[in-house]
Amino acid sequence: MISQSKHDRVTIKVLEEMKSNNEKISMLTSYDYSFAKIIDSAGIDIILVGDSASNVMAGHETTLPITLDQMIYHASSVVRAVKRALVVVDLPFGTYQADSKVALKSAIRIMKESGAHAVKLEGGKLVKDSIERILKAGIPVMGHLGLTPQSIYKFGTYNVRAKEEKEAKVLIDDALLLEEIGCFSLVLEKIPNILSKEVLNKTKIPIIGIGAGSSLDGQVLVSHDMLGMNKDFSPRFLRRYLDLDSLISNAVKKYSKDIKSGNFPDKKEQY
Ligand code: KIV
Repeated sequence: MISQSKHDRVTIKVLEEMKSNNEKISMLTSYDYSFAKIIDSAGIDIILVGDSASNVMAGHETTLPITLDQMIYHASSVVRAVKRALVVVDLPFGTYQADSKVALKSAIRIMKESGAHAVKLEGGKLVKDSIERILKAGIPVMGHLGLTPQSIYKFGTYNVRAKEEKEAKVLIDDALLLEEIGCFSLVLEKIPNILSKEVLNKTKIPIIGIGAGSSLDGQVLVSHDMLGMNKDFSPRFLRRYLDLDSLISNAVKKYSKDIKSGNFPDKKEQY
């Protein structure tokens, strides 16, 4: 399949080039081999093995329960399928916040055991030491600011973040800090468009948004949401490109009906 972009292999350098050429960056989540194979050959630029696997794959209410071993299992399945996209893996909750040495060990396990290309973690100044130690080991880090789901019990809701000046200022300072210490890119989640524009104007690294407006260098969505597998989740920022819930459900109903009526398998479908 021909990819949508001219780049044969997406690297961090390619992302920088895309930004300087005003070419928007596409990013989607994936957690398994078969799905990653499809979206990679469809030309997606970055595949995020997100800790949203905790929600959409495992059915947890938050991203907090997923473990490092589980993230490595998902990430290695994805990496085996990918030929072109940059694969970024979330460091799960509890594997990088407390101690920078633990953070480095977690990041090394992800890189070594999954073969991924970079890690992503949530937060700014509070996790600076962890990010710096991971970067010193030569592991590329993508930052994540705004609505950081691992802090959901601090926030209390999944509402838009940084609407007030004080939180917006902290977010800008954090974005500048993450760029300064060497993060190759940032995800901004669920913040006002006007704030995204300000971060974009003050930084040079590629910035990817989810619910953060159209001005950024790229966009990311959780694939299960954009494909319509998750009917209960309809935030304003989500555009659904498929109603996979109905498509799968109708196919399963038909299959079941065919079995029960004796219509499947037919003569051509047996030996
Ligand atoms: O875990 C995830 O899927 C994410 C995206 C929503 C950015 O972090």
